[in-house]
Amino acid sequence: MADREDALREHAVIHLPTVEDTEAFGRRLAVDLVAGDLVVLDGPLGAGKTALARGIAAGLGVQGRVSSPTFIIAREHRAGERPDGGAPVAMVHVDAYRLGLGADRAATFDELDALDLDTDLAGAVVVVEWGEGIVEHLTDRHLLVRLRREPESDVRTAQWGRVS
Ligand SMILES: Nc1ncnc2c1ncn2[C@@H]1O[C@H](COP(=O)(O)OP(=O)(O)OP(=O)(O)O)[C@@H](O)[C@H]1O
Ligand SMILES: [Mg+2]
Repeated sequence: MADREDALREHAVIHLPTVEDTEAFGRRLAVDLVAGDLVVLDGPLGAGKTALARGIAAGLGVQGRVSSPTFIIAREHRAGERPDGGAPVAMVHVDAYRLGLGADRAATFDELDALDLDTDLAGAVVVVEWGEGIVEHLTDRHLLVRLRREPESDVRTAQWGRVS
């Protein structure tokens, strides 16, 4: 498996001064996403992971509003018309943080497996918030996005790359 840090050096660091920039970055990422892709959004509380997921959903043209899955740990979005004209694909938005990361990783794994979603994960784009450290074990290939918040400012930065 290619080193995660190497993958993150694949692209220049992106500056995201506003939430609109974060969403636009998500729409851009979506253009290259296909069924079976796993996207791992890593970043501290309030880094903009859900905003990025919203942009990805818009770029994929999936149905339903993206919000923080507080009570539902995984939200399924049915395929819609893709603005880029690509093959329609569903999206599953998972909040791995609320699955219990930090407590017991083995238990977290079981929870992810036990979700028993209606959506066939191999036929969807799966976007996981706070997934680094857990979800990477589920599949060897994923698109990793690391979001950071600069101290004392609203400016976010993103590093990203394909871990293969
Ligand atoms: N440049 C920016 N990019 C993304 N979000 C921003 C930015 N500036 C301000 N925000 C705001 O930061 C807040 C947190 O964003 P968001 O919910 O996407 O973060 P998160 O990483 O998903 O948080 P959590 O860890 O709670 O899941 C939102 O209110 C959002 O509007
Ligand atoms: Mg969130």
